[in-house]
Amino acid sequence: MNLDRRSVILGALGLAACDFPVAGAVASVPPLRGASAHPIGCTVTAAECLDVIASNRLAEQFSQLTPEFEMKMNALQRSDGSRSFGAADIIMAYAKSHGQSVHGHALVWYLHQPAYFTALANTQQVIGRELDRYIADVCGHFRGAVRGWDVVNEPLSPNGEMIRPCLWSNALGDDGYIIRSFEAARQADPDAILFLNEYDLESRPEKRLAFLKLVERLLRAGSPIDGIGTQTHATIDLADGAIAETLRELAGFGLKIHVSELDISFGAPRFDIESLASKRARQAQQARAIAEAYLALPAEQHYAFTLWGMIDSQSHLRRPPRNLVDDEPLAFDESGRPKPMARAIYDAFAAAPPAQGDGVMPGR
Ligand code: G3I
Repeated sequence: MNLDRRSVILGALGLAACDFPVAGAVASVPPLRGASAHPIGCTVTAAECLDVIASNRLAEQFSQLTPEFEMKMNALQRSDGSRSFGAADIIMAYAKSHGQSVHGHALVWYLHQPAYFTALANTQQVIGRELDRYIADVCGHFRGAVRGWDVVNEPLSPNGEMIRPCLWSNALGDDGYIIRSFEAARQADPDAILFLNEYDLESRPEKRLAFLKLVERLLRAGSPIDGIGTQTHATIDLADGAIAETLRELAGFGLKIHVSELDISFGAPRFDIESLASKRARQAQQARAIAEAYLALPAEQHYAFTLWGMIDSQSHLRRPPRNLVDDEPLAFDESGRPKPMARAIYDAFAAAPPAQGDGVMPGR
């Protein structure tokens, strides 16, 4: 066959336009939120709520939303001491209009120390008063609309060897700032479900042990903790059985369990010779294992199963500081097509017994 250069180029363009499914894409998966009455969640940003394609996708697929940024201190706290709720209110209005509950993330986090607070006299009295006021204002603003809160996010150092030093711990004590934050949140919204949220609990047994000890101390101190968020930023290489063991141990307190920030990274292997289809298949296996481990917990301890993003291109892993620009950690590909991970999650939830409500107001 004598193919001139023009024919080859046109042929290639024609193929590219055929939108061939990428290896491992799944023909069709029903909307995840239809699999079960269990809240299946995803991150959301105000920009996505205002984008026609993104907002339709989120409404179709998810029954609960976690603001990825707009409810954090750096987003809410102005330098003059006032609070800025505009972007978060866009998300709240969007969720309400689509019958989606909202999980508030996160009231207190070592990583967010806005200038307004760092400029204050770093005394127990001043920082304590201002933290109380902040939590009262934020929980008060969303009272009756937010189903639950990550009251304190990532309290431990990366290996769990200590409570991570921060403005709040320096002024109020390691456990002290956590206890105070939960008490302020309970007072401001008695109906919200209050969580302590941490990462790497499934991959670092030493951190998980330290976390369990922290939760035990806080409960003994009378801290009003209702639930544990295990972020589950996993990889396709997560050890078999690790997530089931983790969730069983975390569930030992009888508190609600939230798989709160699920993504399953391909990692950054030095020699990446594994096929995309193979990586996607392993990713789906991990997703199924995580979903089934969550669903195996006592019904009264189910809170939600939340993905940290919907389509691969929006993953935080692709942005600084991780910069995994080729990673595909989420359930939907760049075009919003479901991957085997989405099918695995759908099938696990569809096969599970019906969800048991937690009595929280619908849509909360
Ligand atoms: O929207 C502002 C923009 O107005 C501003 O000009 C720009 C410059 O600073 O920042 C923009 O905000 C960015 C925000 O994401 C929204 O895109 C922040 O810089 C950026 O730091 C922020 O990153 C988020 C990060 O938490 C820090 O808040 C990521 O999206 C989010 O995925 C990540 O999520 C965390 C969880 O909260 C806790 N667990 C780990 C997880 C991943 O790191």
